[in-house]
Amino acid sequence: MNTSTSPRRVVVTGAAGFIGSHLTDALLNNGTTVIAVDKRDHNDPAAAANLAPLHGRPGYHPVTADLRDCALQPLLLDADAVFHLAGIPGVRPSWGPQFSEYIDANVLATQRLMDTATAMRVPRVVVASSSSVYGVTDGLPSIESDHPAPASPYAVTKLAEEQLSLAHAARHGSATTVVALRYFTVYGPRQRPDMFIHRALHAAATGQPLRLYGDGHQRRDFTYVTDAVAATIAAATTEEANLVINVGSSANTSLHEIIALAEQLTGQAIDLQAQGTRDGDIPSTCADRTRAKQLLSWMPMTDLRTGMREQLNALVARQQPAAA
Ligand code: NAD
Ligand code: UGA
Repeated sequence: MNTSTSPRRVVVTGAAGFIGSHLTDALLNNGTTVIAVDKRDHNDPAAAANLAPLHGRPGYHPVTADLRDCALQPLLLDADAVFHLAGIPGVRPSWGPQFSEYIDANVLATQRLMDTATAMRVPRVVVASSSSVYGVTDGLPSIESDHPAPASPYAVTKLAEEQLSLAHAARHGSATTVVALRYFTVYGPRQRPDMFIHRALHAAATGQPLRLYGDGHQRRDFTYVTDAVAATIAAATTEEANLVINVGSSANTSLHEIIALAEQLTGQAIDLQAQGTRDGDIPSTCADRTRAKQLLSWMPMTDLRTGMREQLNALVARQQPAAA
């Protein structure tokens, strides 16, 4: 895998988030200097646990800033690459009044960032896109050349984000290249608490009920976070650019199978609460990973049981008060 060619100095946006904090951790381990930008900092309870492993590490430069209006030039100065992970994620809330936040963060902030990155001739921007841009599929693995058909407001903003970034890279005279990664449902320690695997493990570990939207036969190509991070780092230095790449394992698992695994790992039955199907919920996702293999020398390394066990261990450790 191509993680040995980590860049020298980078900017990570969304560094206090789930994937961004793991990415920052891995880059620091590689000796990369990281300007770690997020609008949240350690005073935000939801971000504090993500940021805790980063404090005081050599090369770690946290910056609390909102990409919608902060001064971008000082952040991007001398960067070999920008990893743009900041954004508002989550399919279901995007139908609500928060949609303007999705537009602001995923589209308008990306426009600002790309405008500055190209003006400053940052060589590479890696953009966090999403499997959701494919929409409802025929059940076969999604290939990057498939026609995108986003089925939720969130997915529309992610398609806009990746295409906007690619449009900037294609501008006449642009010295900035873009790789947009379509992540498929990422899981692992510190996964966002709105996501299914977190909720299933939390329900099994605490006895609290788990709301199941729809019949539970939805399938996801669940991708372990350190695997997603390895693909992301490789995307900073891959020669072929100005394209999108799937980051998913090419296998998929139903929600019922996740529930059974969570029950096995904890030894506890989950109290299921049936709820209606949510608008924009995709029945099945699955990545074709041919391109990721060819261009990033990437393959996923972590099986679902191992990854969920790691996530459960981290969840339980966080719920236990530290010893005096
Ligand atoms: P997350 O919410 O944990 O992290 C996103 C971070 O971006 C947060 O810390 C947030 O504070 C920050 N942010 C949002 N708007 C900002 C702004 N205007 N300025 C500065 N910081 C801002 O989400 P995540 O799950 O880590 O996802 C990271 C990225 O990957 C997102 O762009 C998401 O759309 C994309 N993605 C995630 C998944 C997944 O399964 N988690 C799958 C596909 C795509
Ligand atoms: C996830 C992320 O949340 C998005 O940010 C990301 O863009 C997307 O993956 C992606 O792959 O691109 P999603 O697939 O909806 O979106 O993942 P979860 O939020 O974990 O939901 C998975 C399934 O579980 C969905 O069918 C959802 O309806 C269901 N679910 C979720 C429940 O039944 N109950 C819950 O409490 C939460």
